[in-house]
Amino acid sequence: TAPLRIGIAGLGTVGAGVVRILQTHRDLVAARAGRPIEIVAVSARDRGRDRGVPLDAYAWEADPVALARRPDLDVFVELMGGHEGAAKDAIEAALTQGRDVVTANKALLAHHGQAFARTAEASGRVLRFEAAVAGGIPVIKALTEGLAGNQMTRVMGVMNGTCNYILTRMESAGLPYSEVFEEARALGYLEADPRLDVDGIDAGHKLSLLAAIAFGTQVAFDAVELEGIGSVTIEDIRHAADMGFRIKLLGVAQMTGRGLEQRMQPCLVPATSPLGQLQGGTNMVVLEGDAVGQVVLRGPGAGAGPTASAVLSDLVDIARGNRLPTFGQPAATLRQARPAKAAVP
Ligand code: NDP
Ligand code: HSE
Repeated sequence: TAPLRIGIAGLGTVGAGVVRILQTHRDLVAARAGRPIEIVAVSARDRGRDRGVPLDAYAWEADPVALARRPDLDVFVELMGGHEGAAKDAIEAALTQGRDVVTANKALLAHHGQAFARTAEASGRVLRFEAAVAGGIPVIKALTEGLAGNQMTRVMGVMNGTCNYILTRMESAGLPYSEVFEEARALGYLEADPRLDVDGIDAGHKLSLLAAIAFGTQVAFDAVELEGIGSVTIEDIRHAADMGFRIKLLGVAQMTGRGLEQRMQPCLVPATSPLGQLQGGTNMVVLEGDAVGQVVLRGPGAGAGPTASAVLSDLVDIARGNRLPTFGQPAATLRQARPAKAAVP
C-alpha cells in the first residue's frame, strides 16, 4: 500500500517527539494505519541543532512554506507555534496546495481555525488538531466521535499543564513561583511565550475550541472570560488548603438560556475531589451530554511524548481515510452563539 507521506515543520519538544515515535514505532503505526507513515522532509530554524533524533534520512527545507508546498507530501504537520507568521502562512499554503494538515497549535486555531476549516472543507482536505487540547488526552475524538450522539450541555476542566504544575508544586513542595516555573520549562510544558500559560490565554484557546465542537457554535475565543494565575499567592494557596480546598485554573463552557458562557479562571475546588487531586502537568476534562451523562478524561496535558501521541492519532486517522471535519461537523454549519457573561453565584 502507498505510504502516507508527511512533512514536519517544527522540531522542538513536540516535533522531535513525533519523529521519535515514527522511528521507534514504525511497524506498529503502519499496522494500525494500514500503511506506513513516512517522513519525507522537515523544517526548523536551526539546521545544526541536535534534537536527539536522527534526521539524515529526511530532506531539509529552511522555509516551512516551501515545505508545505512540496508536491511529494500528503500531509503537512505544523508544530512551530505562533498564531500569525510562519505557521499561518504555511498552513494556508498547505491547504491551498491540496495537502491535509495536522497541527498542535491551539493559539492559531482559536484565531483562524474556523476559516482554515472552511478552506480545507471547500477543497476536500482535512485539518486535524487532537494535540491542541489537553495534550495526550484524546478529547477531540471523544467529542467528535465517541459522543457524537449527544446534545452536550457542559464542558469543563483543567487544561493547562503549566498552571497546574505551578499551583500544585508551590503547595506540595513549598517552593516559590520562580523555581517551579523553571521546572515546568525543563519538562517542556511552556509555550514559547509563557505569558500565554500563566495568564490563562492558552487554556482559554483550548476551551473555545472544545466549546465550538461541543455546542456546534463558531469559535469565540474573544468571548472567553479570562483570568490567569499571576495574582495567586502562596498565602492564597495555604489559606485554601486550611479550609480543605485547592486552587485550580478551571475552565467552564456551557450553553444557557442567556447564551454561551465560557470562563477560565482560578477556582477553589475541594482538595479531596478528582479535580483537587490533580497533580503536576496532568489535565482533566469533564464532558457532559444529555444521553451519556458525565464523562471524565484525565491524563498528561503537555510534554513531548503525550503531545506527540496525540499528533500520531491524527496521522493514523488520516492514513486510514477518516475525513472527519475539523470541528466534528462542516465548519459552514457552526452557529453563531450569543455570548453570555457567567452569572455571579
Ligand atoms: P518548541 O518551541 O519546542 O519548538 C518549536 C519548533 O518550531 C522549533 O523546532 C523551531 O525551530 C521551529 N520554528 C519556530 N519558528 C519557526 C519558523 N519561523 N520557521 C521554521 N521553524 C520554526 O515548541 P513546542 O514543540 O513546545 O510546541 C510546538 C507547538 O505545539 C505549539 O503550537 C504549541 O502550542 C503546541 N503544543 C505544545 C505542547 C507542549 O507540551 N510543548 C503541548 C500541546 C501543544 P528551532 O528548533 O530551530 O528553533
Ligand atoms: N503550555 C501548554 C500547557 C502545553 O502547559 O498545558 C500543552 O498545551
